[in-house]
Amino acid sequence: MSELSSIARTFAAYLIRPHLYPELGRKIYKNIFDRKSAFKGKEDAEGWCRNLAVSQQDAVKSLGFENFAPLTSLYPEAFAFANEAEQNCPVKMGGAGALDLIYYLAEFTRAQNVLETGVAYGWSSLAALLSLKNRGGTLYSSDMPYLGKDNDRYVGCVVPQELKPYWKLYHYADRESLPKIFGECDSFDFIHYDSDKSYKGRMWAYPVLWERLRKGGVLMSDDVGDNAAFMDYCVQQGHQPVIVEFDGKYAGYIIKQ
Ligand SMILES: C[S@@+](CC[C@H](N)C(=O)[O-])C[C@H]1O[C@@H](n2cnc3c(N)ncnc32)[C@H](O)[C@@H]1O
Repeated sequence: MSELSSIARTFAAYLIRPHLYPELGRKIYKNIFDRKSAFKGKEDAEGWCRNLAVSQQDAVKSLGFENFAPLTSLYPEAFAFANEAEQNCPVKMGGAGALDLIYYLAEFTRAQNVLETGVAYGWSSLAALLSLKNRGGTLYSSDMPYLGKDNDRYVGCVVPQELKPYWKLYHYADRESLPKIFGECDSFDFIHYDSDKSYKGRMWAYPVLWERLRKGGVLMSDDVGDNAAFMDYCVQQGHQPVIVEFDGKYAGYIIKQ
């Protein structure tokens, strides 16, 4: 597909979704005035991550889970369903991240309320929900579809039916979803950020999310080596993050002291 027809397709996809018009306005502005935000400071961020990184298993153990077992072995049936759902999904979306870490951070915080941004297939949602179900808690998720892919109806498709009672999914851009979610719940035990990963998107979201995190809660962000936002945020705020390497990428988390 040529660049022009891809732009036209994305624009048309926005036009038939009025609830995403505010995001369309922001995207137009970004594409005209701010095209470099995605990878700003990537080299510095990667070096910073490389120096600090530990494995997912070591991170989980350092949280006090000495007998670390991967999620796939704890919940084989849920993963069999999820793998099949992904295979049968006709649309390709963003794949799974550090799922063990997500699950164990929800366990570590004894989470009742978890907030996540970015769902796609729903792998991170699945990991959080498997923990929340143990305590009857709730996952609040914010996700807008991949425009031009018409994937709306497949968002979260790897989450099995029995976990859905614990899940509230908001199909808006974060800047619209988050105020709606905060209207329902204003304090979270664990927050996972994996949506707008531009430098500016992250620098807007991290402080907003941090404010809603309870003391002792955890803020986690995916792909923190892609640009310098997580590094800059931690340095500016004096936070001591844990950086976790998996599949050649980096996730980071901060415990709110
Ligand atoms: C990398 S995927 C999420 C993967 C998921 N967390 C997982 O681990 O399985 C990113 C998702 O965020 C959505 N997204 C991107 N920008 C967004 C925004 N500003 N607000 C809400 N969702 C957004 C994308 O459309 C996509 O569904």
